[in-house]
Amino acid sequence: MDHLKILILDDEVRITEKLKYHLEKRDLKVYTANTPNQGFELLEKEKPEILILDVMLPGMNGLDMLKKIKVDYPSTEVIMISGYGDMDMVIEAMRKGASDFIRKPFQVMDIQVAVERTGKFLALQQKLENAENRGSLVSKELEGMIEKDFIGESEAIKKVIKIALKAAKDKDVNVLVTGENGTGKEIISRIIHYGSPRSQQVFAPVNSSAIPATLLESEFFGHVKGAFTDAREDKKGYFELANNGTLFLDEIADMPIALQAKLLRAIEEKKVKRLGGTKEFDVDVRIISATNKNIDQLIDEDKFRIDLYHRINTIEIHIPPLRERPDDIPLLLTHFVRSLSSKKNIPTPSINAQLLKKLQAYHFPGNVRELRNMVERALILLEGNELTPEDFPLKGDTKPAPHHYEGFDLEKIEHNLIIEALTRCNMNQTQAAYMLQISRDAIKRKIKKFGIEIGKDIV
Ligand SMILES: Nc1ncnc2c1ncn2[C@@H]1O[C@H](COP(=O)(O)OP(=O)(O)OP(=O)(O)O)[C@@H](O)[C@H]1O
Ligand SMILES: [Mg+2]
Repeated sequence: MDHLKILILDDEVRITEKLKYHLEKRDLKVYTANTPNQGFELLEKEKPEILILDVMLPGMNGLDMLKKIKVDYPSTEVIMISGYGDMDMVIEAMRKGASDFIRKPFQVMDIQVAVERTGKFLALQQKLENAENRGSLVSKELEGMIEKDFIGESEAIKKVIKIALKAAKDKDVNVLVTGENGTGKEIISRIIHYGSPRSQQVFAPVNSSAIPATLLESEFFGHVKGAFTDAREDKKGYFELANNGTLFLDEIADMPIALQAKLLRAIEEKKVKRLGGTKEFDVDVRIISATNKNIDQLIDEDKFRIDLYHRINTIEIHIPPLRERPDDIPLLLTHFVRSLSSKKNIPTPSINAQLLKKLQAYHFPGNVRELRNMVERALILLEGNELTPEDFPLKGDTKPAPHHYEGFDLEKIEHNLIIEALTRCNMNQTQAAYMLQISRDAIKRKIKKFGIEIGKDIV
């Protein structure tokens, strides 16, 4: 560790000066004190990482001082020195929290070794601390439950997690998570489930685009024996299986329109009837849906039912693409480099500054998943111990990232236009919708999508 601060407290000026002379040669910042008072003053002012402390001091026993220091300055490591050291005193000093003990007369070398050892220990502590503060946005407990980390530090992602945790607290509210491929929609959905009062119940992910259309209905609602040729026995559907828990409808936009009506009924009535059956079963589930499609557009094209949309998006969480939050890239990169190299049992390589620059200018069509895959590939092929721009060939490398075309952001233009219309119409949504030549429903959806707060001044 460079520039560690060390305080030497010994009543013999000869000793403090000699040690200062030798330790300064080692690139350490050294302070000296010859009385406990001077020592406390410097501890308070300089907060040294290491204190070399004499046991026999005028006016105060070094062991008592050690005890006080460990209470008032717990992060300062103490190396004790004494001319009268016997085993009991060593044990007592260690028990009171000294990190090392050296007897007089000593060689300068002994002190240097002790300082080095303590320095290494401090570096390790720092590493552990960094690991704890590595930018995870959810508690360790929650991470354990979702079996994933959720990393980020941009304002945008902090806002996402804040809304997700709020939505989690209400066990019934339906949530729609939107965002491009690989932005973390599934992780956010899991965070909502496991952060909620339903956390001990099932989280049932269903991707309807992966189920043959003919089976969809029976998969969702179950069937009774004989309902169709292959129905050899009664079977529960997802709603019943997820009862009391969370039903995660992934890729909801791909759900066939015929099923959408049935889904809506089940969500509204909280009851399902198995295919071919007559009995109704009560089901209590929270619905979290996810999509990377523009549902607004699908509604306009009559491919998605507006009534279902209103049912599933009581709270809508939009995860911005990674290119819109480049502040998250350094942290995510370090996280994947660390975690993947440790998983592969290889030493963690360092990250070249040019590489970071290159990645922060890239448009990441595959978002966080793409970054993770890139790191994995680079680690497999890596030969040295440093990751450089050459290890990360990028798709469409030569073209500037789309967001570099200043002003050509359709979403932003739409957002601004809606704000403009609302402002001109004194926040009257009907008038603003008329001005924009869209329906009142459409403007409501857009207000919600962009999180525009009606009633608050728009600046
Ligand atoms: N903020 C994040 N911190 C750490 N890992 C993340 C983060 N966001 C996404 N990931 C990782 O990226 C990958 C994709 O995440 P996830 O499956 O949740 O995305 P998705 O939005 O559901 O993608 P798709 O639209 O393709 O289904 C996962 O490996 C996930 O662990
Ligand atoms: Mg997904």
